[in-house]
Amino acid sequence: MDINFKKTIEEKASCEIHFIHKKDEEFIFSESAKKVDELTEGAITNTVGNNIFKGTFGKHFFVTTNKLQSSEALIVCLGDKDKLNENKRKDLGGKIYSILQDRGTTGLVSIYADGMGVDLAFGTLLRTYNFNKYYTGKKIPEYTDFDLVIQDDTDFAPELFQNKIAMAQSIWFTKDLISEPSNVLYPQEYADRIKQLETDGLKVTVYGEKELKEMGAGAILAVGQGSARESKMVVMEWNGAGDDSQPIALVGKGVTFDTGGYSIKPSKGLKDMKYDMGGSAVVVGTMMSLALTKSKKNVVGVVGLVENMVSSNAYKPGDVITSLSGQTIEVDNTDAEGRVVLADCLWYTQDKYKPSAMVNLATLTGAISVALGDKIAGLFSNNTDLSNELLKAGETTGEDLWRMPCDPIGERYDEYVDSTIADMHNVGKGYEASSTTAAQFLQRFVNDTPWAHLDIAGVTWSDKGSMTASGGATGWGVQLLTEWIHNEKL
Ligand code: BES
Ligand code: MN
Ligand code: ZN
Repeated sequence: MDINFKKTIEEKASCEIHFIHKKDEEFIFSESAKKVDELTEGAITNTVGNNIFKGTFGKHFFVTTNKLQSSEALIVCLGDKDKLNENKRKDLGGKIYSILQDRGTTGLVSIYADGMGVDLAFGTLLRTYNFNKYYTGKKIPEYTDFDLVIQDDTDFAPELFQNKIAMAQSIWFTKDLISEPSNVLYPQEYADRIKQLETDGLKVTVYGEKELKEMGAGAILAVGQGSARESKMVVMEWNGAGDDSQPIALVGKGVTFDTGGYSIKPSKGLKDMKYDMGGSAVVVGTMMSLALTKSKKNVVGVVGLVENMVSSNAYKPGDVITSLSGQTIEVDNTDAEGRVVLADCLWYTQDKYKPSAMVNLATLTGAISVALGDKIAGLFSNNTDLSNELLKAGETTGEDLWRMPCDPIGERYDEYVDSTIADMHNVGKGYEASSTTAAQFLQRFVNDTPWAHLDIAGVTWSDKGSMTASGGATGWGVQLLTEWIHNEKL
């Protein structure tokens, strides 16, 4: 799909797209829709006047007549135009793509964008993603392809769209990583793929088990010790400010497969645990988008890549391990492994980079989807300014967050992570507030750095998809983090 912006459209298209909206029960036509209505002796007026057409967001119909410049017109209703934001316009772009897919439209499609060109184009572009590399021969799903020309009379649209293309590529990189099965994407292969981003200007350093042992990163090593695949910690640096000012830090859980270990998971849903590296993939995609758009910020990304397996060498319930911070952890449950991996990643990042703010992402607890489902991710933080910045970025991008409880060390929920044999244990009080317990555990590895933990277990994968994506990995978080980093003031 080629996408081009033009001030006026001269080409004859297979389909031209026009917008209408509703205000106080009245339908209002865009300038271009008015012209179509005139040319077609009131085709739009007649359709919206039939009392059947609902004027809500995304409702649409086709007008097919030889009176048009194009073979047919698609008329799309915006509902209440005042309720449209960047995110809704993006959704609409995705919706238009799926309508045209259903229609089997090919050739050229022109959009009379009514000032919404860049967002519409972005949504359309996002919707084209597919992970189909493992289909062979005739089984490859067929997609119709068309080119878009977007009527937009501003000078800056093409330039703004370049940034959106970079964002889409970064989201796709994230989705590819999440979609890969774990026999293909294990820590070494994952580290190699991150290393490829050096061509975009990131500095990438990979630490293997030897280096982790020397460092004293006993927590991440314990989780990975039952796997035949070597554990890795990968550091990505983007020095966009061009000075040595404090960076922002992003940290991600990268469990390439989570069997649960000896606290083994039931077989139902087990295959989903290939996406237990989603948090790290979002960190990687965000670092990529910063590099592609030449962000002016200093940002460091750290991901812990391990496979949580069962073997004669695996860690076991009851084991006591010593983390990089020096604090000891009693392993109550080998399936609460993500927090153990993050313990060392957070400590390492804070200690080495002294970040001005640190945000970690993880598919950490099933309980967060019990609380928030697949619509909103959980936000846990020790800092209200940081929380508010993240909440705002969530609203802008449509990757919404909801702030959940996380107490200072020594207060209220914090006692849930106390152990009777070590400094802490890796589970709380059974199922009670278990997403908060996980956050309290992580916080034991954060000093006074402004820090936030995003529990994305519920939003990382969606079987049914959304307006801008067919089902599968969502890439949830890349837009949110990029938007936050662009605006942050901490
Ligand atoms: N990776 C899982 C959480 C998860 C569940 C992610 C479903 C995505 C979808 C995590 O490692 C885990 O197993 N958490 C346990 C913690 C429990 C043992 C305290 C959970 O949520 O049940
Ligand atoms: Mn687990
Ligand atoms: Zn896990």
